[in-house]
Amino acid sequence: MSLSKFLVRYGRTTLHFGPGTADSLRSWLSSFKRVYVVTSRNAAKVSGALGDVLELLNHGGIKYEIFDGVLANPTASIVDRVAENAWRFGAEAMVAIGGGSVIDTAKIASVIVECGGKASEYLKRYRDVCGALKIAAVNLTHGTGSEVNRYAVATIEETKEKLSIASEYIYPSIGVDDPRYTTTLPKNQTIYTALDAFYHALEASTGRFTTPFAWTLGETAIKLIVKWLPIAVRMPGNLEARYWLLYASAIAGMAVDNSRTHLIHAVEHVLSGLEPRLAHGAGLGAIGPSAIELLYSIVPERLHGLLKYLDPDLEPTQEHSAKAATTVKKFQEEVGFTETLLDYGFTPDMASRVSEMALTSTRYLLDLAPIDVGKDLIEKIYLRSLGRT
Ligand SMILES: [Fe+2]
Repeated sequence: MSLSKFLVRYGRTTLHFGPGTADSLRSWLSSFKRVYVVTSRNAAKVSGALGDVLELLNHGGIKYEIFDGVLANPTASIVDRVAENAWRFGAEAMVAIGGGSVIDTAKIASVIVECGGKASEYLKRYRDVCGALKIAAVNLTHGTGSEVNRYAVATIEETKEKLSIASEYIYPSIGVDDPRYTTTLPKNQTIYTALDAFYHALEASTGRFTTPFAWTLGETAIKLIVKWLPIAVRMPGNLEARYWLLYASAIAGMAVDNSRTHLIHAVEHVLSGLEPRLAHGAGLGAIGPSAIELLYSIVPERLHGLLKYLDPDLEPTQEHSAKAATTVKKFQEEVGFTETLLDYGFTPDMASRVSEMALTSTRYLLDLAPIDVGKDLIEKIYLRSLGRT
């Protein structure tokens, strides 16, 4: 199959997928006079995406201002700063050029510009989302899916809580998934972001309220990641591998939009909230296998339907729970992911704090798991991830 360009309408987003699709922004941008551009320090430049967008803005005579200070695991105060700058500039729309951190920052900031308040008020659900500036999301990683869904995540520094908002208003109006922009992803980002998509697919397909739609997307995404991630790691410039990883992340993003994540994302949000150096995908990879062992013992058929692509010898029985965890761990190690929570300073004596935080700040995700989640279960996953039980 050639690496064709195509268009998908999902939620309130029109997603343009394939090489050269940034050009589709041209007509969308033409309806605005002032646009605020949000990026991180390097990726937008290195990938070539920033140059492509600026050319369109300059050619269209559209005034713009750039904020290039978004970091991984963005904080509520960065979001507030972006919102204030965009509001002062009189932005009519935002263009986010980056991965999940950048897109999510732009999403929440666009709400603040329209409805006022602070990021923490929306993240804590003290305030309802009343609307948002229109957003274009030029996605630069094959992980987030945020370019085509209604979620945004940020951390409140004071309490170290990593929380999400969900609203119809923050679907990007237009998403751009051009695999050429992902060929410059460093090796660790290639792995982390693909693992993020892997766990989106896995959780959306196994949650308490999963749907046939989420299942179809999730299964396909996992099949593609298992096939193409090892190739992208070996050959970063392989456009075919990037194309299919990007497609997997986009459909996994839709799967999450349809039936959300649960246990693994809930615990990970606590961990990367406590330690912002921990990349989201790395946190998922670190705790994923031990969570999978527990989940497999509850819903073996469902997980087997996904993990059989990693190991055809796996059987859909509770007895294969440990084998399922080993299979995922082995896959992660084979693509070069060998990190553990110990590398980020997590220790066994933090188990109680991690589980208490998960049970409060990410309770809304835990409730979607196919198992009743209590303190003991979270501690077990955390301690097993550290090599302790
Ligand atoms: Fe995620």
